[in-house]
Amino acid sequence: MPPQSVATVTPARRVHGRLRVPGDKSISHRYALLAALSDGRSELQHFSAGADCHSTLACLRGLGIHIDIHDDTITLLGRGLHQFRSPSSPLDAGNSGTTIRMLAGILAAQPFSATLFGDESLSRRPMRRVIEPLSRMGARIDSTDGRPPLTVHGTTLRPIDYAPDIPSAQVKSAVILAGLHTEGTTRVTEPAQTRDHTERALAAFGFTVGVHGHTISIDGGQRGHGQSLLVPGDFSSAAFWMVAAAAIPGSQVTIDDVGLNPTRTGLIDVLRRFGAKVDVHETGGQAGEPIGTIVVTGDRTGSVTIAPEEVPGIIDELPAIGALAAHGGEVSVTGAKELRVKESDRISVLVNGFRALGIDADERPDGFVVRGTGTHAGGVADAHGDHRMAMAFAIAALAATAPSRIEGADVVAISYPAFFSTLQRLVA
Ligand code: S3P
Repeated sequence: MPPQSVATVTPARRVHGRLRVPGDKSISHRYALLAALSDGRSELQHFSAGADCHSTLACLRGLGIHIDIHDDTITLLGRGLHQFRSPSSPLDAGNSGTTIRMLAGILAAQPFSATLFGDESLSRRPMRRVIEPLSRMGARIDSTDGRPPLTVHGTTLRPIDYAPDIPSAQVKSAVILAGLHTEGTTRVTEPAQTRDHTERALAAFGFTVGVHGHTISIDGGQRGHGQSLLVPGDFSSAAFWMVAAAAIPGSQVTIDDVGLNPTRTGLIDVLRRFGAKVDVHETGGQAGEPIGTIVVTGDRTGSVTIAPEEVPGIIDELPAIGALAAHGGEVSVTGAKELRVKESDRISVLVNGFRALGIDADERPDGFVVRGTGTHAGGVADAHGDHRMAMAFAIAALAATAPSRIEGADVVAISYPAFFSTLQRLVA
């Protein structure tokens, strides 16, 4: 094991500033995969700086896709739906659940077998949720008791109608991408709306996709065409600064060019209920993805209860939402047991980390409660290899009376490599 990196976070009286955040992680994965499945050249600007999306690019290279990377601009030469090369070695998805699950959907339809593996965290994550529908379509997938590595034996797939029992954009996307390779219509009916970037991105690359309520349908055998696209700023990275500004009265943070897809922005309503002022100005958009400026002004700290039906729209923001109450007030979450199977068990890691910082927090089977008193002693919190835990602990630590240490802090590179340097700028 490499030695753990440690970040020291000093207390802050306020946060203030204007910034942009890296390209959206979810959208970057989808643009890269769809560019590879389309004909011709695509240019993707403001591609995510995070290691997860670079895992997707590395896997695509292993499948014979030519990719050039210049700063945050990626150029890919697509090979169409059936021209991937059989990889000469297993494909490394790193820490990325989106990479392994979405690629499993594509590999299920290839005329070869390929193995997908990941790091320690990814190797613990549940894959039956994609193995089951892809097997029904005809693929054979070997796993270790439903966990990675996955060996996907591709075949000619048949279309299915699928109704997953958990709301998951990754599962929905895996089945849709597999469906694109069949000779019929595949339908996925979600139990609740999840992020719809795949649907919007498919249309942007020239594929026809049907959306009727919570049912998405895709016809096989279509052709996509390479595109020049700009990836919006990642709302889930912006979330940490939005929470910091909302949690500390007297703060103000302005974030430009951030994605405003309504399936992602549930945090805005949560912060308003907490007592913050949140102004949103839509300035444009591309490929069906709205972009704009968000200004959050900290006014007062309140308390907020998260209802189960809100959870799919804020699933990645829940660690940040927990950090709100580290500064005062109470945050109560239920209906979020999916948090237990993210990059870490985010319920247990969050509560243990907050307690280590001197914050009153309790686990629930499907959520957590954090009760703030306005300030806390600070301490040492371990990120447990989870990027969003490291960032949530850093925001919580701003309310301490003494400097805190975040162990394993370099894991922020998964989605937001410049997180700690940006934090320094905003508290200065
Ligand atoms: C993602 C979907 C969500 C989310 C993850 C990214 C995506 O996971 O938590 O960070 O890009 O589709 P689930 O599909 O497991 O809910």
